[in-house]
Formats: sequence, C-alpha cells, structure tokens
Amino acid sequence: MGIPMSKDTFSDADALPDSLPAPDQRELRNAFGRFATGVCVVTTRDADGAPVGVTVNSFSALSLSPPLVLWCLAETALSRAAFEQAERFAVNVLSAHQHEVSKNFATSRADKFRNQVWTPGLGDVPLLGGTLARFECRRSSLLAKGDHLLFVGRVERFSYDDGNPLLFSAGQYGEMARALSE
Ligand SMILES: Cc1cc2nc3c(=O)[nH]c(=O)nc-3n(C[C@H](O)[C@H](O)[C@H](O)COP(=O)(O)O)c2cc1C
Repeated sequence: MGIPMSKDTFSDADALPDSLPAPDQRELRNAFGRFATGVCVVTTRDADGAPVGVTVNSFSALSLSPPLVLWCLAETALSRAAFEQAERFAVNVLSAHQHEVSKNFATSRADKFRNQVWTPGLGDVPLLGGTLARFECRRSSLLAKGDHLLFVGRVERFSYDDGNPLLFSAGQYGEMARALSE
C-alpha cells in the first residue's frame, strides 16, 4: 500500500514563474559534481516482492532525534514505482572496494541482484554484503521536487563497520588518500 506524498509546508521559490534564465544543465551537473560524496545503494522490494536497488549519492543524514535520513530519486528511474509503493527501504553505504557494485546498481535492468551477496533485513528488504554501513528505514515522507522525488526515512535499525568508503566526485570513483588532522 502506498503512502501519500507529503505536502510542502513552506512557500516555494521553485514553484514561482521563472524570472531567471535556466542554467546550462551540463554546467550545473558539473558544478554539483564538485561536491564529493560517498556512494550508497538504496534497496527495497517491489509490489511482487522482487528485490530492487539503485545507486545514489544523494543520501544525507537528516536528523538524530528522531533518526531521519534522506535521498533523492530521478522521476524517470525505472525503480520509481517500487520505491513509491514501498513502506520500507534500506540505505547500503558502499566500501571503497565496491565500485563494481555501484556500477551494477547504476544500470536500469531487472537482474541487478544476480551475482550480488545480500541478506533479507526488516520487511525482507535486501541488505548488501561487504558494505560499510546500513540504515533500515520506514518511509516517513515523499516529496516531488523538480525532476526528482525526495524520500525521507526513519531509521529503525542500523549497523556499521570499520573501513574505507567509496567516494564519488566529478564523475569519478575514488577513495580517501589520506586523512587530514586538524
Ligand atoms: C555514483 C552515482 C550516483 C548516483 N546518484 C543518483 C541519485 O542520487 N539519484 C538518482 O536518481 N540516480 C542516481 N544515479 C543514477 C542511477 O543509479 C541510475 O540512473 C540507475 O540506472 C537507476 O536505476 P533504475 O532505472 O533501475 O531505477 C547515480 C549513479 C551513480 C553512478
């Protein structure tokens, strides 16, 4: 059963008629890409119970109390219907050695879970093996914003391990070269 989309309670500058020329999308994407991120695979089950997963770098911690996270999905994503109807999702934070896992879930195909190691978590949502952290969430809001959907989830269970994260910046994967102290 689907959860209704949240109403945006704040007045929206992005809903006003355009007074500025739209920026060049390639350039805007390049600029957004200067913000280095980790990489996650968000997983769920579709209405038929099949596992679904998509690579994202739009994940962010949102709140400690209550424990909330957010991430964004393109409105054109094939997995959209699955995430729209699902009450639960899991965020799997990838380790530095998992760039092939990232690439696998960044393609639009039905058999993404073939050759992947995973176990069922809360609500049978798939949890990928070899990850650095996992956040098992119940969806608390869903907001349509521009060309993306913004999902907010309440963390019901989480775990993490020591290790290095997979990083993504300017269209390239990487890992931390060295930690800077102070
Ligand atoms: C590093 C990386 C980060 C990505 N982040 C996002 C994201 O935050 N949101 C999104 O919708 N797509 C993101 N994508 C693209 C999706 O993973 C890709 O479009 C995928 O094919 C969608 O799968 P689907 O069509 O099966 O839903 C990212 C891709 C990569 C490689």
